Amino acid sequence: MAYKVPDLPYPYDALEPHISEEIMRIHHDKHHQAYVDKANAALAGTQWEDVRPKEMLKRLDELPEDLRGVVRNNAGGQYNHCMFWRSMSPDGGGKPPEDSRLAQAIKDTFKTFGLFKETLTAAAMSQFGSGWAWLVHDGSRVLIVTTSNQDNPITDGLEPLLGIDVWEHAYYLQYENRRAEYVEAWFNVINWDTVMQRYEDAPVPDVSDILLRPVSISGTERAFGTITIDDARTQAAELKALAGWGPMARVGTVARGWSDLAQTLAKRNAQTVADLEPGIVLASAIELWVVPPERSMV
Ligand SMILES: [Fe+2]
Repeated sequence: MAYKVPDLPYPYDALEPHISEEIMRIHHDKHHQAYVDKANAALAGTQWEDVRPKEMLKRLDELPEDLRGVVRNNAGGQYNHCMFWRSMSPDGGGKPPEDSRLAQAIKDTFKTFGLFKETLTAAAMSQFGSGWAWLVHDGSRVLIVTTSNQDNPITDGLEPLLGIDVWEHAYYLQYENRRAEYVEAWFNVINWDTVMQRYEDAPVPDVSDILLRPVSISGTERAFGTITIDDARTQAAELKALAGWGPMARVGTVARGWSDLAQTLAKRNAQTVADLEPGIVLASAIELWVVPPERSMV
């Protein structure tokens, strides 16, 4: 099944004045089409013909060397641009709703939406030459990364949530060399509904076994997932009392970890640890030595 350029989910002129009709026509009909044509030509008749672009980008290492470069650039071009069109909307802009899980994740990493915007803008400006700047999910938190050419963060095991195309073909006709103006304008068309959906669908670590791990609270054994704010506070207070006694010196660090957990539960209105997001459960479990620190993500 050959790749196809999907229709835009809005008219070519719908993103004006932020992105001109002329740019959208050339970007979508010519540049995106060229990636698709090249990918199809390279993959025709190979065992990779029916593999979805996202899957292929995750498994680039498995491709034969003569195919790897052309797939990386053109299956990458296909995947990135399909994402890009859906990341924008004439009704876009603003920011994700304050009570959304994505807004909370952005706050956890960047403190404020304003600082997130500054960081993504700085990343888009710092990408030398052609490439992309991305908001990604690493299984536990959101981060910003850049890629060159048509590389996608999925190849590095990161789930892309939102990407801005900073190839000149994405802005030059309208903004000439003023990339900063293009980035600023692009924030007005971000489709946050789509980005929120990608955040909800992003793979997260399986923490079901961690939630069942036993922890001792005031001498009673409990499953980690059932710990409440009061339990975490009790544990913090008891460990704090023990801290500083020679071999118990590092207990203070763990006590702070329990205080942090109590604060996290309160901040997120969570009744128990099981109500927290998997990435937070995993990070807390490692900090509190509920699981060995070497346990890896996802
Ligand atoms: Fe592009």
